Amino acid sequence: MIHLAEQIEAAVAAVRRHWKERPVAGIILGTGLGGFARHIERATHVNYGDIPNFPATTAAGHAGRLVCGTLDGRPVVAFQGRFHLYEGWSAEQASLPVRLLRGLDAETLIVSNAAGGLNPQYRVGDLMLIDDHINLMFANPLIGVNDDLLGPRFPDMCAPYDRQLQDVALQTALDHKFALHRGVYVSMLGPTYETRAEYRMCRTLGGDAVGMSTVPEVVAAVHAGMRIVGVSTITNVGTPDALDETDHDAVQTVAATAGEKLAAIVRAVVAAA
Ligand code: HPA
Repeated sequence: MIHLAEQIEAAVAAVRRHWKERPVAGIILGTGLGGFARHIERATHVNYGDIPNFPATTAAGHAGRLVCGTLDGRPVVAFQGRFHLYEGWSAEQASLPVRLLRGLDAETLIVSNAAGGLNPQYRVGDLMLIDDHINLMFANPLIGVNDDLLGPRFPDMCAPYDRQLQDVALQTALDHKFALHRGVYVSMLGPTYETRAEYRMCRTLGGDAVGMSTVPEVVAAVHAGMRIVGVSTITNVGTPDALDETDHDAVQTVAATAGEKLAAIVRAVVAAA
């Protein structure tokens, strides 16, 4: 088995062959949110297939490449496509993009995803700033021998999401006059959407939105000492007692229409990072 540090080194070297700048932030684009990458100027594309140890993405709505360039003049890297545990990747593999980003010297991670709303106040198309999370994947990217050069054995999780950058996101929503909830993201393994009983459980446990990603990446970013901002697009609502069918095409369409709101937040966070 190749050690994580060597995998990261090889991935960083591959990206460096195409792009030499130091990103101030990296953005992981969730389901239906890949369109954000068109805002990136002077873009250099690196396919995941050309990055050693990067899994090939298979989930619908995910392109599978890195878009390196500038956003309002500041160097950034956007990940069009992420690795999900439901595709069979381990939590460690799912967090490789974050390791790569840290290896490129970025200090800020912006994660986005599509999620089902649990809080009854949430409507389809709303955005939720992730204030905290509950890991119900029963997996963790830090399982195994710890590499002290990458981060501590027992990372503190009392505030994974950066307060200051959260305020920037909230102010952006006020300035642009759109609603930005702030809530708890629950991560499930998937790929099945939740049963009515599971939506009810996630709500009872304290969740405001539920999805199948993000937490492994956030855990690795905390381990790596990064500042983190997370945004969920509410693509469907999981009302347990009047549940409609959830379908992946609708999830992608709604996510794409919320894209401009997400773009405003990303721009502001990158400017402040
Ligand atoms: N559950 C889990 N993941 C999701 C959902 C959901 O309802 N909607 C979008 N991603």
